Amino acid sequence: MSLKGRNFVDLADFDRFELRRVLDTAHDLKRKQKRGEPHELLKGKSLAMIFMKSSTRTRVSFEVGMTQLGGHALFLQPSGTQLGRGETIGDTALVLSRYCDVIMARVFGHDEVTGLAKYGTVPVINGLSDLLHPCQIMADMQTIEEHKGKLEGLKITYVGDSNNVSNSIMQGCTIMGMDVTIGSPKGYTPSEEIMKKGTTLSKRYGTTLEVVNDPGEAVKGADVIYTDTFFSMGQEKSKEKEDALMPFQVNKDMVSKAKSDVIVMHCLPAHRDEELTSEVMDGPHSVVFDQAENRLHAQKGILALIV
Ligand code: CP
Ligand code: NVA
Repeated sequence: MSLKGRNFVDLADFDRFELRRVLDTAHDLKRKQKRGEPHELLKGKSLAMIFMKSSTRTRVSFEVGMTQLGGHALFLQPSGTQLGRGETIGDTALVLSRYCDVIMARVFGHDEVTGLAKYGTVPVINGLSDLLHPCQIMADMQTIEEHKGKLEGLKITYVGDSNNVSNSIMQGCTIMGMDVTIGSPKGYTPSEEIMKKGTTLSKRYGTTLEVVNDPGEAVKGADVIYTDTFFSMGQEKSKEKEDALMPFQVNKDMVSKAKSDVIVMHCLPAHRDEELTSEVMDGPHSVVFDQAENRLHAQKGILALIV
């Protein structure tokens, strides 16, 4: 199906052919940008960016991406707009759709971004919700392809707290033919609903999806180890959770249990020496800053195709 006019809220809404188009476009736009070739595919177009939560990468990469595509991005926060005074998501979506060609939103509840998509008449992009982080995983898959030359058949192990990032890995990586292992302690494993969705996808695409409670077992044979913060934005810190997740820290010992050419990934921001040691983050296996860069190229791919 054509991607033009589609919302980019949940990777499970797309098939392998569609995500392949996004990745190929991202690789192509990255090459063009590096060579200094003009690619103003969205000249005169405007992106409304709603941020209910903090951001460095998402904000800067979307804004710079729109500029490189010849368009313009507007940074909107509840405090500076009527959203903060109670104007509804639906009315906001209807109004922004009258001015802008695409809306990107970083929200707390996933229903806020699906609400924008429901009422908006222009495409809506999920820039992170409590449930999913689809743009991140497109950049991550672009990064894996750059380092490994392929996605299909590779094993990715996500270790740590099951969250928006791991949920989107379970969808995007499965659709693209990767075997996914989630290494999380009991109590911090994916929800039943997310497991059900992931299992359906893994059956459809002939991959494996498993949850393992032992960190060493989880990373055995992994081509990619991925981790994220113990406490996502909006979550309360607790000693109990930290104690449960500490054995899942990505450190030298864990890396030695995976394949010798394993790459280590983190969506950032990282909490150095909590979920990931500085030694590994700054070491030879780490590709975390390539991931951060690819947010720019992957999102330009998404924007170019859906707008
Ligand atoms: N990875 C990511 O989404 O980073 P920001 O929170 O800085 O946007
Ligand atoms: N899981 C993290 C990702 C930050 C980019 C969070 O939601 O805070």
